[in-house]
Parts: sequence; C-alpha cells; structure tokens
Amino acid sequence: MTDSFGRVHNYLRISLTERCNLRCTYCMPEAGVRCSPKSQLMQAEEIYRIAKIFVQCGVTKIRLTGGEPLVRKDFRLILERLSTLPVALTLTTNAVLADRFIDSFKACGVQAINISLDTMKPDKFRQIARRDEFEKVHRNMQSLLAHGFEVKLNIVLIKSLNDDEIIDFIQLGKTLPLAVRFIEFMPFNGNRWDLKKVVSHRAIMRVVGGYFGEREIIREADAPNDTAKSYRVAGYSGTFAVISSVTNPFCDSCNRLRITADGKIKSCLFSIVETDLLSALRSGRPIEPIIQRAVQAKRKVRSGMNALRELQSADRHHRGNRSMIQIGG
Ligand code: 5AD
Ligand code: SF4
Repeated sequence: MTDSFGRVHNYLRISLTERCNLRCTYCMPEAGVRCSPKSQLMQAEEIYRIAKIFVQCGVTKIRLTGGEPLVRKDFRLILERLSTLPVALTLTTNAVLADRFIDSFKACGVQAINISLDTMKPDKFRQIARRDEFEKVHRNMQSLLAHGFEVKLNIVLIKSLNDDEIIDFIQLGKTLPLAVRFIEFMPFNGNRWDLKKVVSHRAIMRVVGGYFGEREIIREADAPNDTAKSYRVAGYSGTFAVISSVTNPFCDSCNRLRITADGKIKSCLFSIVETDLLSALRSGRPIEPIIQRAVQAKRKVRSGMNALRELQSADRHHRGNRSMIQIGG
C-alpha cells in the first residue's frame, strides 16, 4: 500500500470501542461523546475479516486502541482471532483492567504494550482522568513488567498540569526497563487545545539537559517509521522519548492507517475524510479497492495542515474531525 508520496503502509491501528473507563480531559470533551449504536460497530468477526484484508495488502503490525480496548466484552475473542494472522499484535491501554488479560496477552503472542499514564500523583490522576484509578494502573504497569512484557508509557504533557513530572517519569527508568514517551498535546474536537499548553520537544530537552547534564543524555537509534525520538540517561535501564506531533510532525515516514470502531478507514489522524469499510463489507462489496483509494488520497503532512498556524485554526479543521476517543489513539 504505497501512497502518492512513496510511503509504504504496513501498520494498522484498529479502534475496538468508543467507550472508556476513564475520562481524560485531553481525549474527550467534558460533555462526553455520543457513542455509536452497537449495530454500527464492527463485530469481532468483522474486525478479523477486515484485518485479514489489510494483512493481504501488506500490513505486518496491528495495534488495538480505543477508547479503551479492554472494556470490549469480547476483547479476548478479538485478540484470539487476530493472533492467527501473521502480524505483530500490540495494544494501547490505560491498564485499568490489564491484570485480567495477562494470560490472553501471553497466549496470543502480544509482546509489547503501551500504557497511557500522564502522572505519578494519585490526586493529579483523578484530575486528569476524572476517575480514581491510579493505584490500579500503577500496580498493573508493574505487573506487566514483571511478566516480561515490553512496556511503553505514553504521557501527554500539558503545560502547568503535569510538566513538573518530566524528571520523575524519566527516573522511573533508573531501575525499570520502561520506555517513557512524552507526547506533545494535539488538537482534537472538544479538548480545549491551545498552542500555549503544548510542551515542546525543545522545552522537554531543556529541562532534561538542565537536570541530568547534556553529556549524560545519549541519543538512541530510532527504528524505521518511529514517531518518537529516543534517548537514554547514561546508566539507566529505561529510555525516554519525545513524540513531537505538533512542533515537528513525522509525516514523511508515516506508515500507518487507522480504522475507527465503526469501521471507517482514516488515513491520517487529522483527516476529516473517512471512508466506510464496514458498510461495504456488510453489503458484500470488495473492500480492497476502497482501502487503496483511501491510501492514495492521503495528504503529505497532517492532512494538509503544514504549518502550525493551520493546526491552530481550530474552526477550519478540527470541528469536522472527531475527538480522540472516537478516532482511536
Ligand atoms: N494529544 C496527544 N495524545 C493524545 N492521546 C489522546 N488524546 C491526545 C491528544 N490530544 C493519546 C493518549 C493515549 C493514546 C490513546 O492517545 O495518551 O496514549
Ligand atoms: Fe480513555 Fe485513553 Fe482517552 Fe484517557 S486517553 S479517556 S484512558 S481512551
């Protein structure tokens, strides 16, 4: 699946649900979102059939997202079905329910798990996620590490909210083999984004350099198509990284496609164009040509928003887009 800019798409992110057991302020609007009726969501077998076609088209890695993927009642079944495909299977979760699925992850060959956790302070957690689940998430993170999973922590940094924890997060890697990843806060429908709230890659590196000393920070090699720039503090087991989606988008090496829980292909996080695969599948039409067309229509940078100025003009661009919880992270 090569697009008109020569980018090869081999990574598919499938959102399993628009629901979540947390309510992170940067992810969903305060008033909540109206969830699609169940009949409009992909059923387990449909997810499998759609994924299989993507794999035939060249996908080698599938990430399950949401909403929170583990709140799907049939999560185990979905994972089992997908594990029969020749792909690396991973997920992004808030980890509230992770302890219940460790056996399934193992049985299905899941090796790497990304956990979204924006603070190490229980009070702050309640403020950001609007639910009191810090202890559970923290325990489950430890337990996944103890079971040998490769764990990455995703932290959305927001100025004056959790940017005082940059060093604390990095220090988790002193003893734990964690990959800590700071994500620049991105604009989505209803999340009150403001460029002033973004903690930039540069600002993060200034804090880190000031604390550890520039010479103690080692730049790690990036994997191809990596969205994160990785570093290690000398002597640490863990690494830290920055995902600079706002100040330095990595669209040049983009290899990803997304499917929303209601079966629409979204070729870019910022694209308001969605193509309905599920209806086509249900009516027996071939979906491969639809996928290929969506890949061909993909724009070069952030769905056409090249400059920060365009990203900022929320009215023009984001109102038509969905909130992150509906897109799938
Ligand atoms: N900006 C950056 N990352 C976000 N995520 C959700 N909303 C945003 C946003 N506005 C991330 C979460 C999680 C994944 C599902 O998407 O941190 O790791
Ligand atoms: Fe749920 Fe993740 Fe969104 Fe938080 S960021 S509300 S955990 S889907």
